[in-house]
Amino acid sequence: FYEVEQREGKAEILPGRKTTVWGYDGVFPGPTFAARSGRRTVVQVRNSLTVPTVTHLHGGVTPPESDGYPTDLLLPARCAPGQTHDDRAGAHPGRTAVGYRAYEYPLPQPAATLWYHDHRMDFSAPQVWRGLAGFFLVSDQEEDRLPLPDGDRDVPLMLCDRSFAEDGSFRYPAHHEHDAFPDGVLGDVQLVNGAPWPVMEVSAARYRFRLLNASNARRYGLRLAAGDGKPGRFVQIGSDGGLLAAPRSLDAVDMAPGERFDVVVDFSAFPVGSKVTLRNSAAEGGMRDVMRFHVVRKEKDDSRVPSRLSASFETLSPGPAGSVPVRRFDFRRTHGSDERQMWTINGRPFSTAEVLASPRLGSVERWRFSSDFHHPVHAHLAQFQVLARGSRPPRATDGGWKDTVDVRPYEVVDVLVRFAGYKGRYMLHCHNLEHEDMAMMANFDVT
Ligand code: C2O
Ligand code: CU
Ligand code: CU
Repeated sequence: FYEVEQREGKAEILPGRKTTVWGYDGVFPGPTFAARSGRRTVVQVRNSLTVPTVTHLHGGVTPPESDGYPTDLLLPARCAPGQTHDDRAGAHPGRTAVGYRAYEYPLPQPAATLWYHDHRMDFSAPQVWRGLAGFFLVSDQEEDRLPLPDGDRDVPLMLCDRSFAEDGSFRYPAHHEHDAFPDGVLGDVQLVNGAPWPVMEVSAARYRFRLLNASNARRYGLRLAAGDGKPGRFVQIGSDGGLLAAPRSLDAVDMAPGERFDVVVDFSAFPVGSKVTLRNSAAEGGMRDVMRFHVVRKEKDDSRVPSRLSASFETLSPGPAGSVPVRRFDFRRTHGSDERQMWTINGRPFSTAEVLASPRLGSVERWRFSSDFHHPVHAHLAQFQVLARGSRPPRATDGGWKDTVDVRPYEVVDVLVRFAGYKGRYMLHCHNLEHEDMAMMANFDVT
């Protein structure tokens, strides 16, 4: 059981400036929750901000009442003058609570790196930008027994970009400026766990990094390079939904918003004294650097990456029924009658009443996503495996259980989705948060 309060806090993100954050417990990133697979975790959230919020556990196998549907508002504990609870619920009827709400997470899922963030209808992007996001780590017995790096060598890294005004406050563009950001809002300061371009001192040993792209819209092509140009490698051990069956060595990790990569980096490959930079090859200028590691000492290292990781991992096979997609979702920009641009799925902007798919609980379906643009497609509840990218096989970074997949311009991605957990209404949406707020979301009902 945890209690957490959404409130304003002050942080020194840029040297000598104070930034007001809207944070869980007033901090950004919010507190990291450590939970256990199959053990019910209850998080009681109090909203001491002045705006409604919605908390979603991204990657969680969560009953619909606690999943953070965008209209299931948690209204501020204190009413603003002249307002009643009823007007504040506004035009979005849902399971509205006032002041407090208990979110229940039964977690019938393996060890995984999850995260939580705001999901308020039409306002997720600015509210996450102001700080409403954090890690939620699920562990289990199978993971406990693996000799992976742990303790202070198991490090969650939340990557996101922000812009700042002169006075140090977060600068999120006003609505009329949004046309300048058709790809979503990008910042010009790279943050890792809320700090700009940090330096981390490391031993010449293995580290486990749980990489999360918590940016509104920025994509990363991560690489490691030492000062002498020597490249480093990532050994991927887990994806969005948990550990892989076997590790996979990668020289680059491409990450779209919402995705997680659990990787091990062995700094003993570099001499003590080396400076190793984590670079984003998908960015320009100063944003090409993400953070730096200084290898400062030797250290005894008993950890290793075993050749078999999760024995419970199961590769879904399409079978005869899955050889053709049963449902197609086309993510596309269209223009409304007034020439306003809209982000749509199958030509439809989001409506709370419309349901695009009704898969059965316990079934596996082949879904096809297509797109005119970069859209990180995310499903709540249901985990999926990438089967094909058009006529090509999945990419090296597509392995494991996913809940978010980057669909690139004019690409067609087929996935096998497993509907396990609960019946009820869930979301499929673009995790570019500006696209999401501009209605690129759909309902599916697990029946
Ligand atoms: Cu991470 Cu529906 O969101
Ligand atoms: Cu989610
Ligand atoms: Cu999108």
